[in-house]
Amino acid sequence: LHIAVLLGGWSAEREVSLMSGHDIVAALESLGHRVTAIDMGRDVAVKLTEAKPDLVFNALHGTPGEDGSVQGMLDLMGLRYTHSGMVTSVIAIDKQLTKQALVPHGIPMPGGRMVRTEELYERDPLPRPYVLKPVNEGSSVGVAIVTDQGNYGNPIARDAAGPWQEFDELLAEPFIRGRELTTAVLGGEALGVTELKPKSGFYDYAAKYTDGLTDHICPADIPDDVADACKRIALDAHRLLGCKGASRSDFRWDDSQGVEGLFLLEVNTQPGMTPLSLVPEQAKYLGIGYAELVQRIVDEAL
Ligand code: DAL
Ligand code: MG
Repeated sequence: LHIAVLLGGWSAEREVSLMSGHDIVAALESLGHRVTAIDMGRDVAVKLTEAKPDLVFNALHGTPGEDGSVQGMLDLMGLRYTHSGMVTSVIAIDKQLTKQALVPHGIPMPGGRMVRTEELYERDPLPRPYVLKPVNEGSSVGVAIVTDQGNYGNPIARDAAGPWQEFDELLAEPFIRGRELTTAVLGGEALGVTELKPKSGFYDYAAKYTDGLTDHICPADIPDDVADACKRIALDAHRLLGCKGASRSDFRWDDSQGVEGLFLLEVNTQPGMTPLSLVPEQAKYLGIGYAELVQRIVDEAL
């Protein structure tokens, strides 16, 4: 096949997408496909029109690329593409819309609300500890955990370094103490459960992409009922949102509460495909190598 790989772009996750994209290009070439790599820019439609690919492999993360805009453009152009379609992407990129779509179906997700950052300097939006995050970023870009001890001041100090300097509005959620778990879905099957144990702090951008900063326990050493719940919830969320190809559901688990302490945080419709990423790792555990995983994502799109 002639496959155009979209990578890069101008989101906060540009570098992650370049890492994912370069590995995907190498894998597709090793599989014998003809590959055109396209660094996502405003002229992407022109480049795609010139390339005339049989399929677009979407290796973008964040906005645009994961938010439905690129998917809508590809729909208009009549091009097939990997991963989820436009409507699914619009919902899944937005953590608040995702809750509105999934919670009524019984998927456990943390409560919380949107807060104007200006309000944060007056009073806490929730009891501490709580989490502040942009509603539509990935890779923990702009995430802050406001602790009981008032690590950013009490209330948050106007000049404290944090996402409130950059965003006008943030999603505030109760912080779920305990453990970080993730489950990939591919081809209508949940691949496994991985626990992420950052060596310090939380599983932030540095902990995600710096080799050695986080232990990945795959499969996670957790009770069967919790592992089964992760897989069931990830599959249900994938289906309810209408995801296609690969997705990855991220969880927090308060292990003092048994399976009742498990909460889905979000569904990633363009999960990372870097060497430290979790979908390739879970696939590998099942004996699916990186190139085979890439081919399976291609097959799902045909
Ligand atoms: N947002 C990053 C790429 C991930 O979910 O893997
Ligand atoms: Mg994400």
